[in-house]
Amino acid sequence: MKNKFYITTSIFYVNSVPHIGHALEMVQADVLARYYRQLGDDVFFLTGADEHGIKIVRTAEKTGKSVQALIDENTSEFKRLTEVLNISNDDFIRTSDSKRHWPSVYKIWDILNSKGDIYKGKYEGLYCAGCEAYLNQSDLVDGKCPIHKKEPDVLEEENYFFKLSKYIPRVKEMIEKNELGIVPEKRKKEILGLIKQGVEDVSISRPKENLTWGIPVEKDASQTIYVWFEALCNYISALGYGGNEKNFERYWPADIHCVGKDILRFHTLLWPAMLLAAELPLPKKVFIHGYFTSEGQKMSKSIGNVVNPFDVVEKYGAEVVRYYVLREFSSTEDGDFSAERLKERYNADLANGLGNLVSRVLTLAEKIKMNQESGIINHKIEEEIKLTKENYKKALGEIKFNEALEAVWKLISVCDEYVEKNKPWELQKNDEKKFNEVISDLLVSLKEIAILLKPFMPRTAEKILEQIKQNKKTEALFPRL
Ligand code: MSP
Repeated sequence: MKNKFYITTSIFYVNSVPHIGHALEMVQADVLARYYRQLGDDVFFLTGADEHGIKIVRTAEKTGKSVQALIDENTSEFKRLTEVLNISNDDFIRTSDSKRHWPSVYKIWDILNSKGDIYKGKYEGLYCAGCEAYLNQSDLVDGKCPIHKKEPDVLEEENYFFKLSKYIPRVKEMIEKNELGIVPEKRKKEILGLIKQGVEDVSISRPKENLTWGIPVEKDASQTIYVWFEALCNYISALGYGGNEKNFERYWPADIHCVGKDILRFHTLLWPAMLLAAELPLPKKVFIHGYFTSEGQKMSKSIGNVVNPFDVVEKYGAEVVRYYVLREFSSTEDGDFSAERLKERYNADLANGLGNLVSRVLTLAEKIKMNQESGIINHKIEEEIKLTKENYKKALGEIKFNEALEAVWKLISVCDEYVEKNKPWELQKNDEKKFNEVISDLLVSLKEIAILLKPFMPRTAEKILEQIKQNKKTEALFPRL
């Protein structure tokens, strides 16, 4: 029986079309999904759309569209992005799907309710529609939400509450013991710090008159379920929890939830507490990535600096975008997306680095009838390949995409040096045996490079492997820009 591996992105709010930050998250999760598949695991990779909440309703009102039309349009753009970026997701869940998603939400609600973990109360406080989150006064900066720079709504209403505080000590313990892994370490510290300040129970519904668009509480249609409470359930509803639970039994718990830093709290406090209350296993790991800025600033429609991933892919190709977003920055830090830097990386790493090596080696290999099975001759190259594989494996195990790529490019430069040192074009004239050996070493190395690149740049890797197989240089992989 194969190892199972369940990986998810967060589900995207479809009040708007996707931007490059969403693309980053899809690509990160995709590389891990492809990597574990390549290792032989039985991978299930989920992404999807978060289709409820106030933000979506307000956008629809502003644009004069019906909510349904708005979410249909934007969700199809997120789906199109998965195709354009060559994302290998096995499924795409929509939270407005009452057949697939709602039964799992109702099941969780019922269990929590029957245990006395849901109670009716009065919520007097703040709500930021941008975050879709209840805020405390202490969260505000100059009276505004620090992320959305807007004054929050002031609410006073009857809601259902979840006894979040009851489960926090256990959640804390599981985080401390890494039973619920949080990567990177600094995010683990951040959340433990937050727990220390005290965590209160949380409102999990809104009166229907204040929130019309969402999942109604099953036994009290006067209330709509809080968007985060039900959105988190997507990770199990997509597996059939609350319906046909075959996939749920096979794949749950998630091995990795891949999410951004702004939603750390929901994934490492609320979600684990809900699962504990429902007596379900917790995800093994929550990986928290950083944020993309654009031209040094937060991406925002009003600034006009939102990077449209479709445009970048059209200009440079999906493989190049996949490479750039993972190579340029540390996965857990913020990074500034710059078209200028992308072009520089393209020319330096892809055109001159990888592309040039492939082209040089295959041009030479073409000239001889190469026995590709002759394997590695040079001990130093053999050692370098071994070291590269170790570094790559360690980096991906720690979810450090840039370090995995760095390891591969180190091997590329070792190969370049090997070419320079041995000058195979001269050997070809005066030492056929040595020429064959050098080219054989390079072909073996190239094959290894292609295999390591597969999760990151699947099409490029296939092209390299095909050229090696045919012993023929065909197209230039990355023409200089
Ligand atoms: N719908 C919620 C998630 C619910 S999961 C049960 C949500 N949606 S979102 O569309 O706002 O964000 C989706 C993901 O994109 C989040 O992980 C978020 O951190 C990430 N990003 C949003 N903006 C980003 C950047 N500028 N840069 C990188 N990632 C960004 O939150």
